[in-house]
Amino acid sequence: MLPISKLALPFVLPLLLAHALPAQSESTRFEEPIRYRKAVMTMIKRHYDQVSAMAKGSIPATPEMLNRHADTLDMLAKLMLDGFVAGSHEGDTRARPEIWKQWKDFRAQAEAFQADAARLQEIARSGKTERLKAAVSDMTRSCKNCHDDFKSAS
Ligand code: HEC
Repeated sequence: MLPISKLALPFVLPLLLAHALPAQSESTRFEEPIRYRKAVMTMIKRHYDQVSAMAKGSIPATPEMLNRHADTLDMLAKLMLDGFVAGSHEGDTRARPEIWKQWKDFRAQAEAFQADAARLQEIARSGKTERLKAAVSDMTRSCKNCHDDFKSAS
């Protein structure tokens, strides 16, 4: 092997180091999208729980708060798919590999949730809160359907 001149060292060293490091594992490669979608789900749960409590009458459904939660859910529903990067079922995640094998079905379930959120937003804007209970119950079904099919229990 040729000796590496002092001058070339700063250029060659990073190359040698990069080579010496193990290839990036699947779990670190997908760390960011996994964190992203879990954050979106955590936020969805927070706002969904609040609207759910409003539908049950355990907290007041003031127009201001209902609109705030409904607008946020609508936005989160639109972001929902962004974190589901192809093949990111390895690592600290409960996403099942079926998501990418049956992408059309998964996307359809996300779209059903988007439609629920859009309806909720419309109800919040119109102030027709008597329709809240039915809308929340439809949304609950969308969460459950998707979790049953695409989220592993542990
Ligand atoms: C289109 C499918 C889909 C819909 C709809 C959906 N989820 Fe999820 N959810 C998932 C998947 C997949 C995961 C697993 C994500 C992971 O571990 O990477 C998940 C994870 C979660 C988590 C755990 C997050 C974490 O930090 O591990 C919560 C909480 C959650 N969902 C709440 C909800 C609620 C509440 C609703 C409805 C208001 C909902 N989800 C609707 C697919 C969905």
